[in-house]
Amino acid sequence: MSDSILDIRGLAKTYKGGTTALAGVDLTIRRGEIFALLGPNGAGKTTLIGAVCGLVRPTAGTICAFGQDVAHHWRAVRRRIGLVPQELAFDTFEQVERSVAYSRGIFGCPPDRARIHEVLRSLSLYDKRHTKIRELSGGMKRRVMIAKALAHDPELLFLDEPTAGVDVELRRDMWRQIGELRARGTTIILTTHYIEEAEEMADRVGVIDKGRILLVDDKAAIIGKLGRTEARITLDRPLPVIPPSLSAYALSLEEDGRVLQYRGGDGAGKGRREIARILRTLVAEGIVFEAIETRQSSLEDIFVTLVENGAASARAEAA
Ligand SMILES: Nc1ncnc2c1ncn2[C@@H]1O[C@H](COP(=O)(O)OP(=O)(O)O)[C@@H](O)[C@H]1O
Ligand SMILES: [Mg+2]
Repeated sequence: MSDSILDIRGLAKTYKGGTTALAGVDLTIRRGEIFALLGPNGAGKTTLIGAVCGLVRPTAGTICAFGQDVAHHWRAVRRRIGLVPQELAFDTFEQVERSVAYSRGIFGCPPDRARIHEVLRSLSLYDKRHTKIRELSGGMKRRVMIAKALAHDPELLFLDEPTAGVDVELRRDMWRQIGELRARGTTIILTTHYIEEAEEMADRVGVIDKGRILLVDDKAAIIGKLGRTEARITLDRPLPVIPPSLSAYALSLEEDGRVLQYRGGDGAGKGRREIARILRTLVAEGIVFEAIETRQSSLEDIFVTLVENGAASARAEAA
């Protein structure tokens, strides 16, 4: 596939000691997208990233990046990849600019002060460029991690839980910066266990649990397919059939005609608007209802359902 930047097939990892972190992962990442890998702690997210970035040796499977098998073209591939690891780790006595410039050098890129300054400015680190990293706040340290990962202009950037433990304001700021990177053509894979983050940022979402990918789809499609608005309208007396005036809506009669059940919408406002119209139509038709319960499923509901029900039911529901 020409528009794929990363192709993972049958990737498995069992650590010494017997923990199976990845149990056969197939995943294709498209050039230019923001892909959010969503999963609870221990799902295998960091292991997956580690395998692509050469930090974890897979037990089985193949990884192809930029059309090249990572196992055979390691150095060429690695210099095109950036990684912001989950754990903050660097020489904290180093100054910001020097540390970022050093990262660029590691990947064999020639020094480029203008480019480093540009990266620092884009992350609002320029004024701190001569500050020692250990003197920065946690959030600023995380920005330095991002600057270091960007110093060699990677085409593919991994952000492993980029906003874990980061306050709301900085989180928003980082989302904006990630959006800017994408606009410049960088492909971004981020892991998170914040559903809101996936919902806000991603073009596509993959859900992983216990080392297996449960679902991969466009964010909008996931919400469209699985996220919906439901309304349960209890009627005063049973209806034999749904009136023709309501035939356009996703309605069914349940409980011997006593309940008019709506399942529709696209996760956004459409469902609520349709329910309002349905209620007006019922009133106009003289159909009396006693009660109405509505609920909106979000990406969060979908995620929880997927992880709770496990792989089999998730596949059935997505189909
Ligand atoms: N170096 C390691 N040695 C042994 N087990 C590990 C190691 N790293 C991770 N694991 C285990 O592998 C599983 C997946 O971990 P990880 O990939 O870190 O998940 P996530 O990033 O989704 O939280 C967990 O059960 C974890 O305890
Ligand atoms: Mg992790």
